[in-house]
Amino acid sequence: MMLDVTLNRTSNQSLYRQIAEQIKTQIGNGRLPANTRLPTVRQLAQELGVTRLTIQNAYGELQADGWVEATVGRGTFVSPSVQPMSLQPTIGQFLTPDSALSDMLEISQIIGVRSMAMAHPDPSLYPADEFCDYLHRLRPIAAQLLSYGPIQGDSELRVEVAKLVQEAGITAVPEQVLITAGAMQGISLVTQALSQPGDLVLVDQPTFLGTLNIIKAQHLRSQAIPLHADGPDMETLAQAMREQRPRFYYAIPNFHNPTGYCTSPEKRTALLALARQYDCLIVEDNIYGNLAYDAPAPPPLKAQDTDGRVIYISGFTKDLMPGMRIGYAIVPPHLRTHLLTLRRSTDMCSPEITQRALAHFLRDGGLKRHLRRVLPVYKERRDALMSALTAFMPAPVTWSQPEGGFSSWVRLPRYFAPGELYRLALQNGFAFTPGEAYLMDEPHAEYLRLCFGNQSAAGIRAGVQLLSDLIMQRIRAGSRPSTWLPIV
Ligand SMILES: Cc1ncc(COP(=O)(O)O)c(C=O)c1O
Repeated sequence: MMLDVTLNRTSNQSLYRQIAEQIKTQIGNGRLPANTRLPTVRQLAQELGVTRLTIQNAYGELQADGWVEATVGRGTFVSPSVQPMSLQPTIGQFLTPDSALSDMLEISQIIGVRSMAMAHPDPSLYPADEFCDYLHRLRPIAAQLLSYGPIQGDSELRVEVAKLVQEAGITAVPEQVLITAGAMQGISLVTQALSQPGDLVLVDQPTFLGTLNIIKAQHLRSQAIPLHADGPDMETLAQAMREQRPRFYYAIPNFHNPTGYCTSPEKRTALLALARQYDCLIVEDNIYGNLAYDAPAPPPLKAQDTDGRVIYISGFTKDLMPGMRIGYAIVPPHLRTHLLTLRRSTDMCSPEITQRALAHFLRDGGLKRHLRRVLPVYKERRDALMSALTAFMPAPVTWSQPEGGFSSWVRLPRYFAPGELYRLALQNGFAFTPGEAYLMDEPHAEYLRLCFGNQSAAGIRAGVQLLSDLIMQRIRAGSRPSTWLPIV
C-alpha cells in the first residue's frame, strides 16, 4: 500500500519523527484502519528516499506507542485495537470544564495517544496486588461487608484516617471523619451543605475543573481569585470576603491543580486571619499532600485552624488508586448530621469491603511503604518534564516548577487560536489539557496543563518535543491564528 507521507528536509524535526507522526495522524483519522499492512521497511525507504534505519526508527516508535504491531515474517500492521479518533475536541469553541473532563477520559482509552492530560498516578505503580491480597483476606466476613455499610464510612477506616490526618498535624477523632466516594464527592456534599443555588463561592483562577463542574451543577455563582506562585492574591481575596460575603473559599494550598503551586507559610497565616476577620469558611482540598518530591509538604491549613473555619477534604486517588473511589472529609460537628442526610440521599454509602481492605492496608503501613516506592519515580518524571521543557521550548514559553503533585502549568504566547494546539497535538498522538478548562473567564489559548505522573521519562521527553515542534513550526511560519484576539 502507498502511504501519504511528505517530508520536509529543512525542518528541525527528524525525518523518522515526521514519518511516524504522519502515520499516526492517518491512523488517528481513520485513513489507515486497524489491521492495515504498512509497506515494508525497504519499500518505504525507497519510496521516500531515506535510509532503512530512518524507517526502522519510525516503525519502532509507532510500535513502542502501540500504534502498530510487527510480526516476524508477516510485516507491520496497524494495531487491531486502535480506533480512529472518535472524539470531537471542542475546537475553536470555549472548552468547558465538563467537556475537558469528558475528552480526558475518552482520550485515556485511545491506544497510541501519549496522554499527559490527566493528573493521576501511573497504573503500573498501583499497589493493586497487595490491595487484592487484603480484599481476599476478608473472605470469611465478606457477606457481612457486602451489606449496606455505615453512611459515615467503615469504622476501622475512619480510625485509620483519623491517625493519618493527626500525623499531618490535624486534631481529629474518627467521629469527625466522613468517608466519601472520592474527594469529588466530598467537595460536592460539603458545597451542597454550605450553600443554596445562587450563593457565591470563591475559587482560585485557575482551579480544579471538577470543582468548577460542581459549582455549575449546584447553580452557584463563583468569583475568581487570581493565583500567584506563592498563593492567592490576598488583596482580591480580602475584598471579596469583605464585600461579597461568600459561602466559602475553595483552596488547594499544597501542590495545586493545575499549577503545582504551594501557598507560602505567610499567606497561610494571613488566609486564616482573613477568614476569621470576615467570618468566612475555607474548604481545603489536600489531595496531593502526600506527593512531595523535594521537601516534606507544608502542614495543611487545617492543622493551623483553631476555630473550626477549615473543612478538610482529601483522599487516596492520587497517592494510591483512583478506582477505589475513596476520599474523606474532616467535618465540623454542626455539619455532620446535614452531611449524613445528604449522603443518604445521594448513594447511601461507599462499599464497605473496599474500605475495610484499605483500612487494613493503612494499619499495616501500606501507604508509607507505597509512597517510599513511588515518590522517587514521580520525582524523576517531574525532573524529566522540567528538563525537557528547558531543552525544547522556545524562549517565550514559561512554566511552573512543581515541588509536588502531578502537574505543571505552561504559558505560551498567543500563537494559536483556542483549541488549535490541542487539536494539532491530538492529531499527532499527544494529549494535554487546554488551560481554558481551569479558567473562568473568556476563552483563550494561553495556558495548558502537562501532567507527568502517568508517562515514563522518555515518554515525557517525546511529548514535550512534539509540542515544542508544533509551537516552533507556528513561530517559524510567522502567522497568527485566524481567530487570534488580542488580550484586552
Ligand atoms: C484538586 C483535586 N481534588 C479532587 C480531585 C478528585 O479526586 P477523586 O478522584 O478522589 O474524586 C482531583 C482529581 O483530579 C483533584 O485534582
